[in-house]
Amino acid sequence: MHATPSTPDPLAHARSPRQIVLCVGPGGVGKTTTAATLALAAAARGRRVLVVTIDPSRRLAQALGFESGSARPGDELVVDSPELRGGGGSLHALLLDGRVVFDRLVRAYAPSPAAARAILDNPIYQATTEGLGGALEYAAIAQLQLLHAEGRYDLIVLDTPPTANALDFLAAPERIHELVQNPAIRLLTGGGKLGGKLLGIGNGLVLRTLSTIGGGDFLQDLGAFLRDFAEVLEAYRSRAGDFQALLTSPVTGVILTTVASPFSVREALRFLGVLRERALRLDGVVLNRIMPPSPPLPAAALLRPALAAQLPGEAVEPALLALADAYAGLRAEGEQSLAAAQTIAEAYPDLPIWALPRREPPPTGLLELHELGRLFVAMRA
Ligand SMILES: Nc1ncnc2c1ncn2[C@@H]1O[C@H](COP(=O)(O)OP(=O)(O)OP(=O)(O)O)[C@@H](O)[C@H]1O
Ligand SMILES: [Mg+2]
Repeated sequence: MHATPSTPDPLAHARSPRQIVLCVGPGGVGKTTTAATLALAAAARGRRVLVVTIDPSRRLAQALGFESGSARPGDELVVDSPELRGGGGSLHALLLDGRVVFDRLVRAYAPSPAAARAILDNPIYQATTEGLGGALEYAAIAQLQLLHAEGRYDLIVLDTPPTANALDFLAAPERIHELVQNPAIRLLTGGGKLGGKLLGIGNGLVLRTLSTIGGGDFLQDLGAFLRDFAEVLEAYRSRAGDFQALLTSPVTGVILTTVASPFSVREALRFLGVLRERALRLDGVVLNRIMPPSPPLPAAALLRPALAAQLPGEAVEPALLALADAYAGLRAEGEQSLAAAQTIAEAYPDLPIWALPRREPPPTGLLELHELGRLFVAMRA
């Protein structure tokens, strides 16, 4: 496998100019960083880009403007950076807030303003939109669909939540629709135990809600909420079209980020399998935080005189050992990166693989992300 230095990044390389790019991958590998980096690079190339991000690190949140006093949840903030000026493109950033998305759906799709108010004021709605398993994933895709329909951006890059299981993200729409449909039956089949499990609502949540609103009203409120909310989601689904159709259409591509550790690579392969199975279009894998392969350490006989020239005599041998040790670690990491690329290449022979080096300190400012965007190396284009 030959690494070829190249300036384009995976988006420049995407088979056709995508309008939506999903950045997915195992936990903690750099999905949020990749999403911001790719969005910035595309904006610098003249596209009007929105990055929808989730849980950015504190510094990245600051860089994208979310921590400024006037920013409110759900705002699309202009990201101003010298690299973007004069290129004709623009970058906006939106911090995904599940509650804001659901509120928007309720206002837009409830049968009447009064019905919308009833849902928004329902204490169970307030608790569930935060606690319902898959709610954030559902909100992410709904947000994407709403924004794409508005057509204000050439490209929307979606960071995805730190989900343990690939299926959670992709199956969230179906799961939540199923969950809220036919609420009466679901409640009754709960057999008096409130059916917390059946409803997919964690017991903690049910208990917390019970204690806030008083046990007596719970069933009634829950029934009303599920009925009304199901109506909203149904109206949304029938008018806005199918999530699945948008996710599998040629406007949408997926970039999977992973690191080279065997665990993450295994996760990544599983993830890729699910994505393919669900007919999403894979545009590439980003191997992030990699160490480039190092050449062998020169022989001790060559290093000894160099060390002896700088260290007291008794320190030379220990220094030589420490050096060999540290160097072996570096080499092992470099080899692990190559092995990871090899494993992915064998399983997905037609998938482009890109490498991004590990940077110290971690890239969180706009300038650093911009630089990171120039460091993509195509391991296999
Ligand atoms: N190329 C890199 N070099 C050095 N540090 C990096 C690099 N890419 C990401 N990081 C750092 O790794 C950490 C995890 O990155 P990030 O938050 O982007 O991952 P994530 O996949 O979005 O995580 P989560 O699954 O929790 O959402 C962050 O501290 C980030 O700054
Ligand atoms: Mg993240």
